[in-house]
Amino acid sequence: MINPVIRPRRLRTTPALRRLASETRVHPAELVLPMFVREGTDSTPISSMPGVVQHSINGARRAVAEAAAAGIGGVMLFGVPAVRDATGTGATDPDGILNAATRALVAEVGDALVVQTDLCLDEFTDHGHCGVLAADGHVDNDATLLRYNEMALAQAEAGSALLGLSGMMDGQVASVRAALDAAGHADTAVLAYSAKYASAYYGPFREAVQSTLVGDRRTYQLDPANRREGVREARIDIDEGADVVMVKPAGSYLDVLAEVAAMSEVPVWAYQVSGEYAMIEAAAAQGWIDRRRAIEESVLSIRRAGADAILTYWAVELAAWLTETD
Ligand code: PBG
Repeated sequence: MINPVIRPRRLRTTPALRRLASETRVHPAELVLPMFVREGTDSTPISSMPGVVQHSINGARRAVAEAAAAGIGGVMLFGVPAVRDATGTGATDPDGILNAATRALVAEVGDALVVQTDLCLDEFTDHGHCGVLAADGHVDNDATLLRYNEMALAQAEAGSALLGLSGMMDGQVASVRAALDAAGHADTAVLAYSAKYASAYYGPFREAVQSTLVGDRRTYQLDPANRREGVREARIDIDEGADVVMVKPAGSYLDVLAEVAAMSEVPVWAYQVSGEYAMIEAAAAQGWIDRRRAIEESVLSIRRAGADAILTYWAVELAAWLTETD
């Protein structure tokens, strides 16, 4: 007869013991809701992201009030402009959709949550790349930095508290930090999308912002094969003055996330992206997966791997589940 002396199952016997032995918890304050805001007065559904819409500014006002009431930590705004051009003029126009939406939402919620903005040109350029193009068609890193600097000032002036630098240009954190400081915006924080991989999981996002991109972003986003390079990008961004670093996507890059979390002295966030959302929603719609359990497990896993906060399209719904009294 085998009689094990060590029995880890003891701590799993009852719900009360399991609750007390739980190593990881998700709190609503650690969740950030990405939101799309379009021009015009109608909100438009995004077919590849059931339950997510492109909001009008008024629709976004209502959604951000609901997000604040749910107790989540913040929202990350993306603009969907009606008109695009080669240099993404709409991104730096104070009345462009993203800057106008930022002003409206900051006025709506004040300090109840953190209003953050995506700082990248891809939603505003007619070619869909994250930067401006040189004559030969390649993305011109240093010319793009000048546009990012202008974008940073426009966003800070609109009231964004945290600028999400998602373009993956070299030197973008140092460049934007210096521009902000020189213009009296020393208090505006910078979130660096440090380890942002060239991922198939951004597919539904491209519909969400009606991206016109032809080709891919492999000359600036990271190769999914590279863990060490992701950690290096985070280190560089911390050295350049990033207030927060991020790993993106989350679910397929938990190893990178854990390694960045282990070395970072600034908060580390992770972005559960559009494709991660769409996969669970699609499987759940077929009845192939328990929707709520899959959502909870996916976000918990990102937290367990080391994320201090998580951007997720389920932020508000998940916050409500987390605060349910049982
Ligand atoms: C670029 C940006 C992208 C996402 C966030 N910021 C798209 C890309 O890099 O192609 C993707 C987010 C998602 O898929 O949920 N501005």
